[in-house]
Amino acid sequence: MSKVTKQQQLDQIMTDIISDKVCPELATTATQMVFGDGDPDSELVFIGEAPGKNEDLQGKPFVGAAGKFLNELLASIGLTRATVYITNIVKYRPPNNRDPLPDEKDAFLPYLKRQLAIIQPKLVVTLGRHSLNCFLPDLQISQVHGQPKRYNGQVYLPLFHPAAALYNGDMKQTIIDDFANIPAILKLI
Ligand code: URA
Repeated sequence: MSKVTKQQQLDQIMTDIISDKVCPELATTATQMVFGDGDPDSELVFIGEAPGKNEDLQGKPFVGAAGKFLNELLASIGLTRATVYITNIVKYRPPNNRDPLPDEKDAFLPYLKRQLAIIQPKLVVTLGRHSLNCFLPDLQISQVHGQPKRYNGQVYLPLFHPAAALYNGDMKQTIIDDFANIPAILKLI
């Protein structure tokens, strides 16, 4: 029997999200599910909050202004988005770009954990406080950004959210500096 690829296993999670009717209201207001993008064999996974307008229309995470900045950050360490895997906690766009609700994050978390169990990345980079606090609820992004944290056998790197950093000079330099350490952190793991 042929081996089931990681992509096929990830596709099964997408199917399950639909058949399990996760967040049916969001599913109704969204154009489509934004599940994830990139290389499922990558050692690096980036996790944001939820799709915005552009992501909702294109069906891919981080394709708007924050995504353009994320692409630049990846290029600054010699990577492209095709060589990493990018996803969000919540897979449908919340209406009017509101923050994802606690119930919505909770509803999607088991599926996100399954994604990670399939990909088995060396490093999970959390983008913003929502993503950090899904995995490490007691930590504050302003205090721990840029510091790798090992928890239950997985290493996490908390970073500011590129959308927040984009229009804030200090935060922008901080995320650029924190990003520059990713290659060294990967070598240490
Ligand atoms: N912000 C996010 O958190 N995720 C996206 O996909 C786009 C913007």
